[in-house]
Amino acid sequence: MSTSLFRKKSVRQALGDAGDGNLTEGHPAESGGFEDKSLAKVLGVRDLTSFGIAAIIGAGIFSTIGRASADGGPAVSLLFVFTAIACVFTALSYAQFASTVPVSGSAYTYAYVAFGEIFAWIIGWALILEYAVSNMVVAISWSEYFTSMLKGFGINFPGYLATDYGSAAAAHKAVMAGEPADEGVKYLAQAYASAPDLGSFKLIMDLPAGIITVLITALVYIGIKESRTASNILVVLKLAVIGLVILAGAFYIKPENWSPFAPNGVKGVLSGVASVFFAFIGFDSISTTAEECRNPQRDLPRAMIYCLIICTVLYVLITLVLTGMVNYKELGVDDPLAYVFQKVGLNFIAGVISVSAVVAITSALLVYQLGQPRIWMTMSRDGLLWPKFSKIHPKYKTPSFATIMTGAIVAIPSLFLDMQFFIDLTSVGTFFAFILVCGGILYLDARGISQESKFRVPYINGKFIVGFGLLIALAFAINSGDFIGMIEEKPLMGIFWITWTVLAVLSFMHSFSLLPILGILTNLYLMTELGVSNWLIFVVWLVIGLVIYFSYGYRQSKLAHK
Ligand code: ALA
Repeated sequence: MSTSLFRKKSVRQALGDAGDGNLTEGHPAESGGFEDKSLAKVLGVRDLTSFGIAAIIGAGIFSTIGRASADGGPAVSLLFVFTAIACVFTALSYAQFASTVPVSGSAYTYAYVAFGEIFAWIIGWALILEYAVSNMVVAISWSEYFTSMLKGFGINFPGYLATDYGSAAAAHKAVMAGEPADEGVKYLAQAYASAPDLGSFKLIMDLPAGIITVLITALVYIGIKESRTASNILVVLKLAVIGLVILAGAFYIKPENWSPFAPNGVKGVLSGVASVFFAFIGFDSISTTAEECRNPQRDLPRAMIYCLIICTVLYVLITLVLTGMVNYKELGVDDPLAYVFQKVGLNFIAGVISVSAVVAITSALLVYQLGQPRIWMTMSRDGLLWPKFSKIHPKYKTPSFATIMTGAIVAIPSLFLDMQFFIDLTSVGTFFAFILVCGGILYLDARGISQESKFRVPYINGKFIVGFGLLIALAFAINSGDFIGMIEEKPLMGIFWITWTVLAVLSFMHSFSLLPILGILTNLYLMTELGVSNWLIFVVWLVIGLVIYFSYGYRQSKLAHK
């Protein structure tokens, strides 16, 4: 059993499976007994960069950045840089994999090649957090901006149809108990009080979040070309508005707002890790369109790096503008970009930003709704999911059943659940996937498979550097306080130090490439900031995934039959 759990695909097999999966029996007149069911190859580097930007810039920069800045102050801009560095190491690793195995499964396929089936399943399962669960956050955030935009036009959407039951009930309870309540809590309590009764329940749901998910799913179902055109248009609009915020905001910066730069110290800055990382999630999603690229080996690596660089520059500038325009303490709002312009009396620009946020978040939704079905399609081709998940629509050439499933899985929870929980869960799952992708490059190098990659992570020999770095970091950590006490306080840091030690030894033995190791360590470090409870929820998620794997995929896997 243990060997079958770790059965691996060769690169050739992964590429071949993508081809095989595309040929199923069809009308004989069309293709000599087989119908070509391959995905349409229409995407170039500009489209891919555009998809990447569409995926990255969304709810994170328009919404969650506010609370991160309110906790960390202007220094959150440095957290953006640090997180971007972790993402660049990861993007290089993704790029090498994407150029070696250009099929739609993204990190799932890469893990199948590098670590074997059980890891591939775990990654595929974790990617649901990155795509479907993060899209619940994006849909809920879209709804918030949408209803506030309607308000700007004088239309009041009923509160009980634009929020989740838990938040409204909690606000109602707090107000009834006479606890101090800000405007937001009062609004939610009012939504609860005004909701119609359904027997012993109240009718409370986030209708706009559900509806936008259904609409976007319909677009993704109809076709990749239509999705590409929509994505390209939305991205231009999105970049224009971000540019507007930076350029117009720059005139209103008061440098004294940048001092102190890190008012709550490193702890305050790091408390924003989940939000900041959430804002970067998405650059990897373009690897799921590998089978729809004209030249995936050349274009995917370039596009991934381009979109990451563009977004990092924009994020750092936006953070500096926001924290320069108003005092950081004021930024703990859901719509910080519009808020700062209202504060300086530029209501028209604030209005433009609110409308554009709706547009921007729509394009992020689109990309994740596009990515999730393609991962499921690949898993189904491998026999790890039911065959329906790899069914390609004969006319639209999209994975039809998987797309509909994604729509339902995102739309239903987004109607009823609160977003905060999902932000952390998405981040843990994504860090986990990133770490395994970086680790996978070490495997490709060790097995000599990297020679086949058209793009390679630049090689710097880590033989001595990883161990030397460990010694310096340890000396620094021990010197700066009670090392054991720190680990007792934050046990996850123990995992970080152990991993670094193991990597130092392995690097010494195998002359590992330095950049993927830095990717593992930076992602793992950021992951330790997310807290034990998030890790535990993630473990529960993985256990559920393993139960499904052993009940179906383990036996049905195509590799098992081969
Ligand atoms: N990066 C994506 C966003 O911020 C998830 O919406």
